Amino acid sequence: MILSDYLAQTESLAQACRTLLDELEPSTRLDVAKGQLNALKDEPVAALQGALRALPAEDRRAAGVAFNTLKVAIQEALDAFAARQASTQGGAAFDGTMPARRTWRGSLHPVTLVIDEICEIFRELGFTIALGPEAETEFYNFGALNFPPDHPAMELHDTLYLGEDTLLRTHTSPVQVRTLQRYAPPVRVLAPGQVYRRDFFDATHAPAFMQLEGLAVDEGVSFGDLKATLAEFARRFYGATRRVRFGPSYFPFVEPGAQMDVEVDLGDGKGLRWVEILGCGMVHPNVIEAAGLDSERYTGWAFGMGPARIAMSRYGINDIRHLYDSDVRFLEQFAR
Ligand code: PHE
Repeated sequence: MILSDYLAQTESLAQACRTLLDELEPSTRLDVAKGQLNALKDEPVAALQGALRALPAEDRRAAGVAFNTLKVAIQEALDAFAARQASTQGGAAFDGTMPARRTWRGSLHPVTLVIDEICEIFRELGFTIALGPEAETEFYNFGALNFPPDHPAMELHDTLYLGEDTLLRTHTSPVQVRTLQRYAPPVRVLAPGQVYRRDFFDATHAPAFMQLEGLAVDEGVSFGDLKATLAEFARRFYGATRRVRFGPSYFPFVEPGAQMDVEVDLGDGKGLRWVEILGCGMVHPNVIEAAGLDSERYTGWAFGMGPARIAMSRYGINDIRHLYDSDVRFLEQFAR
């Protein structure tokens, strides 16, 4: 054999070994792979080793180097196969293209997001935030708000009493009185907070829910201010093309009383319909007086809305209970 043939044979045997191992399924057991490798290489390796001695003396050094390179190449090919095989478990191939699991960072609840957004809109309109206690007295929850004792509206609220004179507030309107007692007009506040009613938990009611109260009191405030401000809120919150309308309504603490409806599609196949999103009206003079202010000098308007219903009208949710189920698959649609 001449040297160039010898070098070519070591080269092609190394390549054949690499090809054999590369083409094996990674799930192939290591001893099986070694068996196939040995069947391929043992005879030619022995022949090449024997051929070394048959070469002319001056070629033996170069041929010896080539022979050692062949043995190293075979070992490396086997190591590479073993590594590939170790990285697979249960026989499944490792898929390096599979997307990594996303980390879930969490998000604020959709009702909280809606409250934040509404507070931001009213902040731009000059309102600040006011808070009041969830455990209230009859005076703040009813009396100061012009509910006469035994007024039927008190039964409507079906209040949860904590004691003689303490109850879980049925609305955020008591914050109107607390704010007017504490701050001199002009007053423009937004009062978000939890309220409680003895209601059944159904598609449109929850026994504990958030409310958002608004109050604006100053000299010369009119119903025109109420309409303009709430319509502007609706434009900013729902978009300029969504229709809103006002209609008459009754609450003892406002006169006249009104409600604002917004046209929405609740996604139940019934198309667009009017949904009431808030109650409002001019603050009753008796409420202004109960807070210790002169009702001849000061007038104002107020509204109360339920951010859960606002969220439903915004996103076309048809059952309020979805918002309380804590099902992440539902809630994460609204994550920001
Ligand atoms: N407090 C009323 C309710 O709970 C809402 C309301 C607030 C209505 C302010 C008019 C003015 O339903």
